Amino acid sequence: MKIGILTGGGDVPPLNTVINSIRERVVDEGHELIGFLNGWEGVLQRNFILLNEYDNFSSIGGTFLKSSRVNLLSEENGVEVANSVFKQLGIDGLVVIGGDDTLSNAYYIDQCPCILISKTIDNDLGFIDEHEKELSPEGIVNYFTLGYPTAANKIASYASLEEGLRTTAHSHERIIILESMGMHSGWLALASGYGDPDFIVIPEFPLNYESFCEKLVKLYQQQKHAIVVIAEGAKFNNNKYIKADYNESDNFDNPRFGGSSFALRDLLKKDLQKYFDTRNINAVNPSYLYRSGSPHKIDRNISEKLGDLAFELLINNEVNDPVFLSVVLVEGEFVPVPVSLSFFQQTDNGRFPKRQINKGFYDEKNYQLTTNGYSYFSNIIDKSTIDNFNKKNKFKYHY
Ligand code: F6P
Repeated sequence: MKIGILTGGGDVPPLNTVINSIRERVVDEGHELIGFLNGWEGVLQRNFILLNEYDNFSSIGGTFLKSSRVNLLSEENGVEVANSVFKQLGIDGLVVIGGDDTLSNAYYIDQCPCILISKTIDNDLGFIDEHEKELSPEGIVNYFTLGYPTAANKIASYASLEEGLRTTAHSHERIIILESMGMHSGWLALASGYGDPDFIVIPEFPLNYESFCEKLVKLYQQQKHAIVVIAEGAKFNNNKYIKADYNESDNFDNPRFGGSSFALRDLLKKDLQKYFDTRNINAVNPSYLYRSGSPHKIDRNISEKLGDLAFELLINNEVNDPVFLSVVLVEGEFVPVPVSLSFFQQTDNGRFPKRQINKGFYDEKNYQLTTNGYSYFSNIIDKSTIDNFNKKNKFKYHY
């Protein structure tokens, strides 16, 4: 069999693990793996490599196949060209690894069966019932998207006392605003919860700036420092983004985010002068560091299983319509499970709905996680970080 594979959208550390796990099965069992370069662009331009010829590259982050945000629907005859390329090359099955944008293009491929694997540090693809009083982890469709566990552990450590910004904030009596990626969703910002920041600001709950300032000033007066985590796509309660640049939107019309921490810092510097020396308000945006480097063990393990399952399903001709591989928690272990795309209630043009944070995970009044939120993250965040969180944070003001 000839299997095709491509990666699109923002890269994440475990992509090569998935690609390599399919490559190993393909080589062992005498098939061919065609890697299209730069996502859908490589399909349109017939730009591909035969992955059978390469060695194991699974431990390196990023994607060996490179990535792009090319959208078949905005390219001239994009869908027709892609289907005819698959036909000419004799592709028997295609594995598409991407976020909601890249994956939504697979909806138009009728030349071969498609397997969809979600990756994005934004974690915005899947379903969690927000009306559940108690979180039932095993009922979540796509517990996380690939790359999210790596990024989630990074932000929790960046915010923490043991590994992150709190020591310097404390030493210099500073307010440090830490920015997360995440596009229109607050998943990544929320993942900082076990790092014990003082405030988490996310897009799903637009910021009441006046009341936030009041709380921040009060805390600063007591604690003499603070850690604020803000999502790049956060908004004010007049619905304006704190920082989004539409001059640079991508092929799927997403604005370029980045800079909400700096925008908030500048505002606070101006508005809080009467309370303290606002030179002590600083901002940090780790930006691409969230999706760089090698994968966390949770990402690595599930990636190997995802690659294996994708291979099995295609080789055994078990895919008719496109199939999405959901990450499910079963008896304490993450495993991939095929689900039909109809489950996602896509729109007519095949777009996936963006999964926003589960409203039951966020305590709006205190800018913190709720019990259900902590419970969700307890399956993703390292035990050592959680253990530290459970100790009394010496530098924090305890009411
Ligand atoms: O989609 C993942 C993501 O990391 C977003 O969180 C972020 O807004 C975007 O990619 C930035 O990507 P780039 O700068 O590569 O276009």
